[in-house]
Amino acid sequence: MSRRPYLAANWKMNKTVAEAEDFLDRFLGDVGGLEDRDVVVCPPYTALAGAVERCRRSPVRVAAQNMHEEVSGAFTGEVSAAMLTSLGVEAVVLGHSERRALFNETDEALARKLPAALAAGLEPILCVGESETQREERATEAVLTRQIEADLAPIEDGRLADVVIAYEPIWAIGTGKTATPEQAEEAIAFIRSLVAARDTASGEAVRILYGGSVKPDNASDLLGREQIDGALVGGASLDPADFLAICEAA
Ligand code: PGA
Repeated sequence: MSRRPYLAANWKMNKTVAEAEDFLDRFLGDVGGLEDRDVVVCPPYTALAGAVERCRRSPVRVAAQNMHEEVSGAFTGEVSAAMLTSLGVEAVVLGHSERRALFNETDEALARKLPAALAAGLEPILCVGESETQREERATEAVLTRQIEADLAPIEDGRLADVVIAYEPIWAIGTGKTATPEQAEEAIAFIRSLVAARDTASGEAVRILYGGSVKPDNASDLLGREQIDGALVGGASLDPADFLAICEAA
C-alpha cells in the first residue's frame, strides 16, 4: 500500500508573526515539486492567521500545536477546535512529549481531544514515544501500547486512519541523537500493528511519522524506509531551506 508522505514543521514557541511570514515567503516559492505529499507548518497560535493567509494558494496547510477539547467555557489560556477551524487551520498536533512532560497533558485528556478535533474537521497529529529510561528498561512497546490504546480508545475503527501518528522517542527530540532508521522503523511497525489489531485496513492506511532530530542529512535514510511515512521536524524546520530539503527527501 502506498501512503502519501506527510511532512510537518513543528515550530514550537518560535517565530513572531513577521518571522513566520518571512519563512513562508521564502519557503512557498520553492514548493512546486511537493504537490504529491502533505506539507504542514505548525506555527504558534499568534502566527496562525498570517500563515493561513500566506499558504492559501499553495499546497502547504497550517496546523496548531495544541487545542482544548471543549467548544468554549471557563478555560483561561486555552483555544478550541472551532476557533482554529474558523481561522482556516486544518490540523493540530496533540500529545507532544513537551506538553505531556511540561504541561501535564494526560492520555485521558488526549482521549477527549482526539474526537473533538476530528468532529471539528481538524486532522490530529498524535505524538507518542518513550523516554530514554523506558527504552533502557525495554519498556518501549509497553509505553507505545499504553499511549496508542488509551489515546485512540474513543475513535471509531473506521476513522483511525484519519489520525496521523508521530513516533517521537523523547531521547531523540532536540538532542541531535536521532533514532537509527532501524529503531524508528521497528517502533513504527509496532504502532502500525496496534492500529491494525483494531482495524486491518486502518493499520495499512494510517500515516506514521518519525520525529526526533530529523535533519537534511539524515532525512533520506529515515524517509526511505517502507514503514516511515514522513517526519515531524522541530529544530530543522525553523529554516526554510532545511525544511524544504527534508520535504524533498520524502
Ligand atoms: P527536533 O524536534 O526535530 O528538534 O528534535 C522534533 C519534535 O519535537 O517534534
